[in-house]
Amino acid sequence: MTEYATRTHAPQAIDHAVPAAPDHALEATDPRANVLKFLSMLRRDRAPILSAYATPLDFCLAVIDPDHAEAKAVAARAQLDGLDADMRDYAVSSAYALLIGDDRRKALSAYFTPPVLATATLDAIRPFLEAGRAPTILDPACGGGSFLVPTARRLIDAHVAAGLDITQACAQATGQLQGIEVDPGLAALSGNLLGRMIRREYGIQQDTSGIVRCANTLATSLDHGFDLIIGNPPYSKLFRSGLDQLTEAAGRADLGGHTNLYALFVIKALDWLKPGGGLAFVLPTSFVAGPYFAGLRHEIRKRARVVELAMHQQREDLFIDATQDVCLLVLQRHGPGVADDYHYRLGWIDAAGQRTALGTASAPADGEPWHLPVALAGTATAHHHQLIAVNAASTLETYGYRIRVGKVVPTRERALLHAEHAEGRVPVLWASDIRVNGSFRFQSGTRTGKFAWYAPINPESAAYVCRGRAVLVQRTSNRDQRRRLNAAPVTKSFATQHKRDGYVAENHVIVLEPLSTTPMVSQEVLARLLNSEVVNARFSAVSGSFSVSARLLARLALPDPSTLPELGDQFDAALATAFAPIDGVLVASETKGPSKDKA
Ligand SMILES: C[S@@+](CC[C@H](N)C(=O)[O-])C[C@H]1O[C@@H](n2cnc3c(N)ncnc32)[C@H](O)[C@@H]1O
Repeated sequence: MTEYATRTHAPQAIDHAVPAAPDHALEATDPRANVLKFLSMLRRDRAPILSAYATPLDFCLAVIDPDHAEAKAVAARAQLDGLDADMRDYAVSSAYALLIGDDRRKALSAYFTPPVLATATLDAIRPFLEAGRAPTILDPACGGGSFLVPTARRLIDAHVAAGLDITQACAQATGQLQGIEVDPGLAALSGNLLGRMIRREYGIQQDTSGIVRCANTLATSLDHGFDLIIGNPPYSKLFRSGLDQLTEAAGRADLGGHTNLYALFVIKALDWLKPGGGLAFVLPTSFVAGPYFAGLRHEIRKRARVVELAMHQQREDLFIDATQDVCLLVLQRHGPGVADDYHYRLGWIDAAGQRTALGTASAPADGEPWHLPVALAGTATAHHHQLIAVNAASTLETYGYRIRVGKVVPTRERALLHAEHAEGRVPVLWASDIRVNGSFRFQSGTRTGKFAWYAPINPESAAYVCRGRAVLVQRTSNRDQRRRLNAAPVTKSFATQHKRDGYVAENHVIVLEPLSTTPMVSQEVLARLLNSEVVNARFSAVSGSFSVSARLLARLALPDPSTLPELGDQFDAALATAFAPIDGVLVASETKGPSKDKA
């Protein structure tokens, strides 16, 4: 089972009865959008491609070979026109992962690191890359070479800058690099992509065939150490028994039947580092504070100091076909001259790969939780909240609400929308019906041309029709809005008036629908809570974007209902006391949301 929450096409909505929202963020000029378009073409043509080519590798090699004239490869190549070199390689290795099929892909955890994150990783480890004359570098799970190829480029450029001619620089750089990859097709593909980059960008025909060895990293012994180990290891549970030889070296990081592969990769990599050497891995955030990972944190600190921990802003649009909170972890193996400093740098990596420093935190040696950085977007100062609550916390679900994204997508359902009421039509609630002061007013936006009535196709059985008194939350906010979360309770009179036929919500509205007539927290209190400064600060700290994710909302750690203050002037001030025992921003995602993070 992979730790990634995998998805087949688009991200899933919280309620499966509700179709996934269109992704307005993707523009035709967005390189990632072009890669997704390329992959959806391949998904559609998967069967004919697999019958025309002996293996997925053959097809990928045909796509990257400009002289290969078979029609499907030519069409695929044309889709990649205009992408930069690393994005093209990323698209090709993702194509390989798609063609091998979901089961094999999951078993390998073949979800590759996008170029911006690989670049941010290399920036973070520049001191190690530039240490000495020719540091040796290993990617022990190298997939399609997302790290190997840009690392080679940096090494070659550095050698040229230091005075080597291009031939020597390429030979020297490739001599410093090694990859290990368990899948033979990926091992061949990454070696091939590396060779092509060197030929295309430096005009040198370099033999790269021996750089990536096809092997199981965890069953491999090496007779020499490395100065730097980088990568994004597989995240999956190791269920098989009888792997004592793999797990005994992991010490307390081995959790018997629950060990995660990435923990074993971290320990193995640390054991392969030379004293003072550096490690930079993209990892799930789960190990940072989760009680299950105390053993891993202990084993890491036994071997290394933590240099940097940088949280990645995105979870849903980072990997293709998988949703995962990840961070970049940089370690330095203990050794002569390496101070065993408890403190590490906190950072934040945004969707463009930009790294922002967020102060420091400490990594105790005994396995106690470390801290994850989260940025209060939109503010000049950085605040740190622990990401995952360790103490028990409530959620919207325990308050008695289910979360749904508004169903109506006006651009797709124009024919069902109407300006006037008539039999069989129900009100459509728009984001503009949620007013800045936290109140609800139906038809607030009709003057701006928003149709207020909708004719559901099967009104009786349509699960998206609400009949209770929901709390509405705007799904997007703009920079000018003071609050990130803007909520309003549907009024009693509106709910009573539309009790029989119900109402629906437009796609920019999140509907918090009470599961009973007496939820544990009233609609008024819930809306006021969501609009409060304390909740907005906490939500902004994990959201990092102006759109409100229903998944994040579902994971928001909230106070016990019995500790919530009464409505009134003192409500906001009194909330601080209610939040005092809540030690994290989100609840662990195994209890909320589809990701399988352990916290
Ligand atoms: C999460 S992907 C990352 C690949 C690449 N480093 C990147 O970031 O794009 C993990 C890779 O590890 C490989 N892998 C899985 N188990 C492995 C093992 N036991 N030994 C070596 N490679 C393994 C998978 O085939 C996959 O390519």
